[in-house]
Amino acid sequence: MKTLARFLVFSAFAADIPRVWERSAVETLELPLAVREFSPSHIDETAYYSIPERVIYKSYPIYAPGRGPEGYAERLRTVEPEVAFDPSRLTTGEQWVAAGEIVFNAPTSLHPVFFTADDLGDPDFFRRSGMPVARDGSVPFARWVVRRKGLVELGSMGCNTCHTRVLKDGTVVPGAQGNNPNDREGALLLRNSAKVVAPEKILAQVLSFARQFEMPWLPDDLNRLTRSMNLEQLIAAGEAIPPGVTARANTSMLLPPQIPDLIGVRDRRYLDHTGLVRHRSIGDLMRYSSLAQDVFSSDRYGAADVEKLSVPSSRYSDAQLYALSLYLYSLRPPVNPNAFDSSARRGSLLFARERCGECHTPPLYTNNQLIAADGFSPQPGTPDVSPVRIGVDPRYALQTHKGTGYYKVPSLKGVWYRGPFGHNGSAATLEDWFDPARLHPEYVPTGFKGYDGKTRSIPGHPFGLRLPPSSRKDLIAFLKTL
Ligand code: HEC
Ligand code: HEC
Repeated sequence: MKTLARFLVFSAFAADIPRVWERSAVETLELPLAVREFSPSHIDETAYYSIPERVIYKSYPIYAPGRGPEGYAERLRTVEPEVAFDPSRLTTGEQWVAAGEIVFNAPTSLHPVFFTADDLGDPDFFRRSGMPVARDGSVPFARWVVRRKGLVELGSMGCNTCHTRVLKDGTVVPGAQGNNPNDREGALLLRNSAKVVAPEKILAQVLSFARQFEMPWLPDDLNRLTRSMNLEQLIAAGEAIPPGVTARANTSMLLPPQIPDLIGVRDRRYLDHTGLVRHRSIGDLMRYSSLAQDVFSSDRYGAADVEKLSVPSSRYSDAQLYALSLYLYSLRPPVNPNAFDSSARRGSLLFARERCGECHTPPLYTNNQLIAADGFSPQPGTPDVSPVRIGVDPRYALQTHKGTGYYKVPSLKGVWYRGPFGHNGSAATLEDWFDPARLHPEYVPTGFKGYDGKTRSIPGHPFGLRLPPSSRKDLIAFLKTL
């Protein structure tokens, strides 16, 4: 990693942009799904490159009510539109990384997804949704876009919408587990629209959104439950999803995943909690981003009749994806305020004694291996599969479009600034993750509680749970230094 940083900064930089949708790379990009014959197949190379490239316009920060510079809104109405990403102007590594930051923050949608422009001008919206505001008064999850002079549009659904965290002191950490309460805002948006649009119409919209998550090849697909839910229950399912967890495309409204920290992604061999996507090169990270943001919508799942949205109207260019990935590789954690004191030192000994390092192996604090979920039998000889099982909730690995049957071992770096924990963000804090009470059927998870608020207990991952409280404190003190 150090060498990459040095390379980018000090040498003349020759961009070596891989072809993103190269057939053999795409065909071997993913692990098969748990039910192999329903593994996704993707759009072919010719059709991919016929999708128009996304034009990235210059965008501007959004400020919480009363926090922007004097006359800001008026000034935005006078700026000329400008194309912000132009690879012909990029020569140094630093310029490529800076251009990648623009791609990271570039909205992909100008329709309100989780919130409207009016919401962002309404102090009450911030109180009700809990949307965090940065120290400088900005809202780093969305941007104002100017495509035509005089027209200022709200844009969101760039990487920043989900992968930006605002710490308690207002520091913005790009790439960290996001903490915009996306799905709660989405629920609020539905509640507000139900006052002006016929509820049946909204219900139909939500049901059609929910259809994309179904797994028609499973006899007992949990996702199918949404069909029999009423609007109030569907809205409540959205409200149940805390910041740091989100029902992204190809995940599940009822089984949403934790948003992973992208800081350190360069060292991970597999992407997604289920290890779905191989990360063999920068090209694979580029393929991941294109697929997750746009191209997934044209996937086919064997012979299954899956509700899909068809070919996307735009995609990132290969150069945009390359810049974006260089930016992701350049991300660094914020300065860690936790000292390696005597408690942390004792904790580090416990970490070794409890053999945490067999899975969370230093220096990455992951061995980059996959662990089979209960109910799944890996094919013998599958590389990188650990022989151990840990008994965590298997549903995300079995009942979603990302379900390979595995969970990957996550890195423990940066746990001090992130949370909630576990693949579904069910434990709000490290203290809760190591609280033995979480195994009890009457336990109420402190993070994501389940769509109906009734899912009790956080099963599995028994490591560290039998330590006496003072040792647990030391172990956590150590983890917070990583
Ligand atoms: C709507 C929210 C959302 C948006 C927008 C979004 N992501 Fe994600 N991202 C997620 C969630 C949730 C996951 C976890 C999915 C899983 O594990 O199955 C994820 C996973 C990832 C991963 C896998 C990381 C790992 O270690 O497993 C990468 C890489 C990633 N996103 C990059 C991006 C990039 C780059 C963009 C913009 C081009 C982006 N994401 C946009 C929510 C989002
Ligand atoms: C056999 C492998 C294995 C061992 C041993 C192990 N872990 Fe884990 N750990 C995992 C896996 C897999 C997950 C992800 C669980 C999930 O996705 O729900 C995980 C998750 C975690 C998390 C939550 C991380 C996050 O970002 O959500 C923490 C914290 C953690 N482990 C700490 C430890 C500590 C401390 C020990 C030793 C006391 C330990 N683990 C032992 C495999 C292991």
